[in-house]
Amino acid sequence: MKTILVTGGAGFIGSNFIPFFLERNKNFHVINLDLLTYAGNLDNLKEVENNPRYTFVKEIFVIDN
Ligand SMILES: NC(=O)c1ccc[n+]([C@@H]2O[C@H](COP(=O)([O-])OP(=O)(O)OC[C@H]3O[C@@H](n4cnc5c(N)ncnc54)[C@H](O)[C@@H]3O)[C@@H](O)[C@H]2O)c1
Repeated sequence: MKTILVTGGAGFIGSNFIPFFLERNKNFHVINLDLLTYAGNLDNLKEVENNPRYTFVKEIFVIDN
């Protein structure tokens, strides 16, 4: 099993990408890291919330230059 990290996965692009990706890549686990700000909405990910190959983490990502 491989794992990918999706940042901002509860937003517009991520919430469409994650179900699409999980359905087509059965050997992948997806970790969705999202702070659930103004745009994040877990209602858009209900179809995958019980998928054992999906994990949601409410956390901030920071790019430190
Ligand atoms: N109906 C439509 O066609 C439609 C609707 C919305 C957006 N859009 C387009 O989609 C694009 C935006 O989509 P998107 O998915 O990139 O953005 P988004 O704003 O929809 O989602 C960003 C996600 O990242 C999270 N996030 C942001 N900063 C974070 C941080 N530091 N740590 C953790 N989480 C963080 C937010 O909580 C959110 O869930 C734009 O081009 C916009 O015009 C289109």
